[in-house]
Amino acid sequence: MALLLNPNTYRDLIRPLLFRLPPETAQKLADEALRLTPVWKLLEPYLEYAHLSLRTTVAGIDMRSPIGLAAGYDKDCERLESLAALGFGYVVGGTVTLSPRTGNPSPRILRYERQESLVNSLGFPGKGVGNATMRLAGSNGPARVPAVVSVSGETISEIVACHRELEPLASAIEVNISSPNTAGLRAFHDMGALTELLTAVNADRKRPLFVKMPPFPQAGGSRDDDDARKLVLGLAGVCVDQGVDALTVANTRPVREPQLAVGVGGLSGRLVYRDMLRMVSDTRAAVGNSIAINACGGVFSGRDAWNALLAGADTVQLLTALIYQGPGVVRSINRQLALMVSLNGLTSVSEIAQLPREATA
Ligand SMILES: Cc1cc2nc3c(=O)[nH]c(=O)nc-3n(C[C@H](O)[C@H](O)[C@H](O)COP(=O)(O)O)c2cc1C
Repeated sequence: MALLLNPNTYRDLIRPLLFRLPPETAQKLADEALRLTPVWKLLEPYLEYAHLSLRTTVAGIDMRSPIGLAAGYDKDCERLESLAALGFGYVVGGTVTLSPRTGNPSPRILRYERQESLVNSLGFPGKGVGNATMRLAGSNGPARVPAVVSVSGETISEIVACHRELEPLASAIEVNISSPNTAGLRAFHDMGALTELLTAVNADRKRPLFVKMPPFPQAGGSRDDDDARKLVLGLAGVCVDQGVDALTVANTRPVREPQLAVGVGGLSGRLVYRDMLRMVSDTRAAVGNSIAINACGGVFSGRDAWNALLAGADTVQLLTALIYQGPGVVRSINRQLALMVSLNGLTSVSEIAQLPREATA
């Protein structure tokens, strides 16, 4: 069993076979495997790395580990129970939209294998909020692992309708204003429009709210880059003012990619890791301690997760590492993270953010 779940077995045996297939076909196969929920639940004791020092509470949500699954792996919230069994502290389902959508034309996912990265231009394919509601209502609760649901839409009323339907079935809702593959979302990259959206969501909100932020350029670049950076940090300020509980920093980085049918997509994986660390620390510096931050982008190891927490994050989300390293990756990250906590003389992951930045044992 240990051999089967070992990241090396996945990397050396399973991944080469899966990666002979086009990315979306491989994803369908993974989805078939995840259908076997009772099997994954049986495997959970081997996949989980339970350690007291990993436990944390973010936005009032208790988690067994700060490592979460990022939005986009299970767009229709159909496999969250199996995914939770991989050892995550929480899982984000979605992004769910109000109506079913086919998304963009294929090819729409490309692997950069050597860099363990992906570019996707999916554009929110999904079965819509009705299906997600049914799946979440039908899953076998009470769940040990909190489920957050990501929602989006091109108008305030679409997003509010998704939020209203899904909030009672989730531990929190993550509003996605940042997919680079849906042009309409850029409407919310404006402080006034975002204020209007969050005011509408807040009107009947009862549970924690996360907002998934767009990536932003480094300080000291061109004037346009500086403006873009100021804008995103301004949006973070709006979230603080509106009582948002956590910012997820950040969505994929928009890139040109002629091999995708639409010619552009969002980059994820190792190639965005350094930028993610900088965005987390810049965002933390801008918002202070008034809001939680979920670091998201290129985390593959316990050390990567440690650095993200050290940069100011409260939790860490990942997606691309699961595709490149397989189901054992969460256990391996949790184990390494718990070891680093102990080597640094700490008792809890929540103490990492208080360490000086250069402190890494
Ligand atoms: C295939 C794919 C689909 C994604 N779909 C979504 C999505 O529906 N909603 C969302 O907020 N982010 C989505 N993302 C972005 C991820 O949640 C995450 O922000 C990004 O991949 C960076 O993390 P990673 O490097 O650990 O993958 C998607 C990413 C990938 C690779």
